[in-house]
Amino acid sequence: MNLDNMVIPKHVAVILDGNGRWAKQHGVPRAMGHKAGCETLEKMVRTASDTGLEYFTVYGFSTENWKRSEEEVGALMQLFRFYMVRLLKIASANNVRVKMIGDKGRFAPDIIKGIDNLVEGTRDNTGMTFVIAINYGGRDEIVRAARKLTKAYQQSGKTADSIDEAEFASYLDTAGIPDPDLMIRTSGELRLSNYLLWQLAYSELYVADCLWPDFNKEELEKAIAAYNKRERRFGGRI
Ligand code: IPE
Ligand code: IPE
Ligand code: MG
Repeated sequence: MNLDNMVIPKHVAVILDGNGRWAKQHGVPRAMGHKAGCETLEKMVRTASDTGLEYFTVYGFSTENWKRSEEEVGALMQLFRFYMVRLLKIASANNVRVKMIGDKGRFAPDIIKGIDNLVEGTRDNTGMTFVIAINYGGRDEIVRAARKLTKAYQQSGKTADSIDEAEFASYLDTAGIPDPDLMIRTSGELRLSNYLLWQLAYSELYVADCLWPDFNKEELEKAIAAYNKRERRFGGRI
């Protein structure tokens, strides 16, 4: 698809969904679906950067996903360990800066270290920002922000009257990151699943039928083309 003359959204956020269905379709264990999903993610970081996105945010593991079977959660943790190291190489080779949103405190110490290495190791890169949402939940993020804000206000003696939207947003994990222009969910599901509840207030939503492991450059371009056909009511960028 030719994206010439199209507005490239500055920030695209994705709910990568359908790894399990992909595995079922291919007659392999769910863990293999997640592995295929990680491979797609790796490719898409490069593609998103080549397409000219400034921010690319991906939902990799939700606060609710801990409720999955011990076997599946274990397989996902192993994949995090492996792909975090690979991501550091890919991000470095593509001048991509990595940020993490979510509560990393619940992960095993070696995974926390891996996340820190990824963030620290790419901090000075000046290209696209790749935001990975792991152990992320929109409600959890808002509650943690309220807690941080309350503590800061108690310490500084500031009054509640000085809290406005911008002030509150500065306590969210996404502080400093513009809201997504476009949110893509794969696998046909029409739910937010606790994703970026504050930030998606005015984003355009696009649902792709394809399963995440099958997502690619063409699918991203289709979503961008659909975005360009929308009449934006807020922000008026198109
Ligand atoms: C998305 O794929 C990956 C994670 C939530 C970790 P799913 O595992 O939700 O795949 P489906 O929805 O069962 O197909
Ligand atoms: C959303 O997908 C979470 C991630 C993609 C990490 P889920 O598959 O977990 O969401 P539900 O269960 O369909 O709402
Ligand atoms: Mg799912």
